Amino acid sequence: MLDYKLSMDKIVENTKENTVLLSIRGATVCDNTAKSIQSSTEQLYKAIIEANNLNDKNVNVTAVFVSMTKDLTASFAAAGLRGLCDCAIFSSSEPEIEKSLPFCIRLLVQVNVAKGTKAQHIYQGGAKTLRPDISKFVIALDGPSGSGKSSLARLVSQNLGIMHLDSGALFRSVAVKLIECGFYKDKLLVDDERLTSVLQATNIVTKCKDGLQRIFLDDKDISSIIRQHEVSKATSDIAINTAIREYVKTVQYKMACTQSLIVDGRDIGTVVFPNTEFKFFVVASIQERAIRRQRELKRKGHDIDLNSLISDIQKRDFNDSNREVAPLKQARDAILIDTTSKKLEQSSFEVLQHIYSTKHNSV
Ligand code: C5P
Repeated sequence: MLDYKLSMDKIVENTKENTVLLSIRGATVCDNTAKSIQSSTEQLYKAIIEANNLNDKNVNVTAVFVSMTKDLTASFAAAGLRGLCDCAIFSSSEPEIEKSLPFCIRLLVQVNVAKGTKAQHIYQGGAKTLRPDISKFVIALDGPSGSGKSSLARLVSQNLGIMHLDSGALFRSVAVKLIECGFYKDKLLVDDERLTSVLQATNIVTKCKDGLQRIFLDDKDISSIIRQHEVSKATSDIAINTAIREYVKTVQYKMACTQSLIVDGRDIGTVVFPNTEFKFFVVASIQERAIRRQRELKRKGHDIDLNSLISDIQKRDFNDSNREVAPLKQARDAILIDTTSKKLEQSSFEVLQHIYSTKHNSV
């Protein structure tokens, strides 16, 4: 009752001062232990206060609403807010919706602020997947060719409603540009200065058209040519060039500024987005990767001997893993996903479970 009166007084007092009531949202995930529930709630509340510049003692928090998913039974999340706020706190349980995010705590903080103030909503760890539109994140998926990372990235992207960016396709697009300009024939035929100016004048955009991802080079759809043998060979050669790697990195950064992404490649978790909290390294046995490639080629009408595919893959693995610039390797904090003899859905489930249960790193 006292809390309620205090909150009402704050609302009345601030209405007089030309302020508005702002609702700020947040969510986090935790383990089902009293310590994890309470400290995660405390961290989330503090992050909301800080991100919204509410440290000023004159700012009035009028109410906090807390919800917990039903799998959290070890403690009240609101207990984590004791001593942090003197307003009304209301707890409830979240509706049980199929496939919704487990072990999740949600907060709604109501504050009186100056008119025109915008709310910064805070989603932490696996809870970022609740609002990929406002809490931008990157999922890094690295691995050798044929490990299944592209198909996996596509399925995870569909599940989370975020964009899939195939970084290999970006390198392939640069290769197409250099071939078209006459700057590649069996090797790069251009000096650093010329290369820089060509890259500066290159525009690569990926778009989703009729549910399929298309890649555009200087406004031309080149999706059907980037996988041609000639382009693959050129791509491997040009991918070791530092200026080209920097250019592709910039394209990826620009895309990550405006949206959440799942990016697959060789160096995404180690070099391009080393600070992302969602990192995976996808592998499969050589035999299985060769069989997959053989099947893919058969669908396109080519019958290739398995042993020659195995030796091709071994060569490519060696080149990717032993090059000096951004070699293929598992980041120390990446989770290993072995797709050998697993259905795609099974690997995707594994990746999603890891993402959903990722805790905010300061808890
Ligand atoms: O993944 P994909 O096979 O399409 O990649 C094409 C080439 O681009 C590979 O030969 C690989 O060496 C290079 N690449 C890279 N770094 C990435 C993605 C691809 O060096 N992040």
